[in-house]
Amino acid sequence: MTTMIRGGTVVNADRAFRADVLCSNDKVVAIGENLDAPAGATIIDAGGQYVMPGGIDTHTHMQLPFMGTVTMDDFYTGTAAGLAGGTTTIMDFVIPDPKQSLLEAFHTWRGWAKKSAADYTFHVAVTWWDPSVHEEMGVLVREHGVNSFKHFMAYKNAIMADDETLVNSFRRALELGAIPTVHAENGELVYQLQQELLKKGITGAEAHPLSRPPEVEAEAANRAIAIANVLGTPVYIVHVSCAESLDAIARARAKGQRVYGEALAGHLVIDDSVYRHPDPEFARGHVMSPPFRSRHHQDALWQGLRGGNLHTTATDHCTFCAEQKAAGKDDFTRIPNGCGGVEERMAVIWDAGVNTGLLTPSEFVRVTSTNAAQIFNVYPRKGVVAVGADADLVVWDPNGSRTISASTQFSKGGFNVFEGRTVRGIPTHTVAAGKLVFERGELRAEAGAGRYIERPAFTPTTA
Ligand code: URP
Ligand code: ZN
Ligand code: ZN
Ligand code: ZN
Repeated sequence: MTTMIRGGTVVNADRAFRADVLCSNDKVVAIGENLDAPAGATIIDAGGQYVMPGGIDTHTHMQLPFMGTVTMDDFYTGTAAGLAGGTTTIMDFVIPDPKQSLLEAFHTWRGWAKKSAADYTFHVAVTWWDPSVHEEMGVLVREHGVNSFKHFMAYKNAIMADDETLVNSFRRALELGAIPTVHAENGELVYQLQQELLKKGITGAEAHPLSRPPEVEAEAANRAIAIANVLGTPVYIVHVSCAESLDAIARARAKGQRVYGEALAGHLVIDDSVYRHPDPEFARGHVMSPPFRSRHHQDALWQGLRGGNLHTTATDHCTFCAEQKAAGKDDFTRIPNGCGGVEERMAVIWDAGVNTGLLTPSEFVRVTSTNAAQIFNVYPRKGVVAVGADADLVVWDPNGSRTISASTQFSKGGFNVFEGRTVRGIPTHTVAAGKLVFERGELRAEAGAGRYIERPAFTPTTA
């Protein structure tokens, strides 16, 4: 299988240059001007367009059992939707129940993910602690290509990791050469604020952001950073949504601490007025944690991305339909938390970031794939257009535009938080593992074509 992308401008995180890109099977094999196309090659005309590394979404939840239900997108529909948007790799989460074996959960998720249409890899959540967890973290790193462990500091009475778990797990991650990641929200504060709001009779989605103010997120971000500092581990903070958390990251980095931050496409462009919308179904459709916040916080996140204190962009793609969200119609704490975006992330960030001058095209590549590949140790296999890298590429038309709508999306769930937004800058072709899987609106995703990507540990300090 040979594919030639001809006449485009290759954009990497470090530079952009005119070149043809030749792919053979699943790898890029040549980059240069006026390359000869081998007989039988599929030719993609990229004239006037950019050729960029396929997106890496560092944070998705396909087929996730969560809050009493299961997300609408499974690993096939979710990864297919990603391909339509130029994302060729997702990083999803294995989330063991408290007391469940990490390895058992890992194998369950591996089974579910076999139908993926795009490459995938897993962060594994540590939701509890005992010596078996210590042992299984080692097996996951050494035998299963896992190099990141997730800790939910929220979701009390469910998957919340207490300080004992955080400290033990961070310490173990350091021994193994893995990176701890956190969902930073103080779960006890969230729980108590939720109970107070319900007691006052504030039961709709408008209560959701009130129960999770920025300070609740910042407390947890500061705590995770402090724990990482004491233990000498790096730490990666998922879905940073507010200026206060970003300040915590910036302060730590200024002192030389290795702290990374992830921003979600939704948090960058959607504000908290959605929770006060007169249609309760619309408001519930936006319930995710941390919540969408005011313009002030959005501006801070863009500054963080541009200034280098936020590193990756993701979606936290976690889709629930209106019926599922209605489980919380009389009690906002029962609304399944999660929103979509895997299909829209690249275009939304290009439109709101590059078209406005906030990001250069190379900075766009850095925050949509390169940094992710480097932080999670799959660079230069992913995150760069280079000879020897995976042939995961997106051909990007900076002048093409489309209006996002649930009525035309590939993702399941019947709702889109970016509904009605017209974006300029869209993928015309997506090549995944050397195959042309998306061409001008036509999706040719194939269930099972995605591969599990092993991510080697960073140099461990002990065995
Ligand atoms: O609301 C969200 N974000 N749902 C998915 C689980 C998580 O917290 O990432
Ligand atoms: Zn195993
Ligand atoms: Zn989270
Ligand atoms: Zn998540």
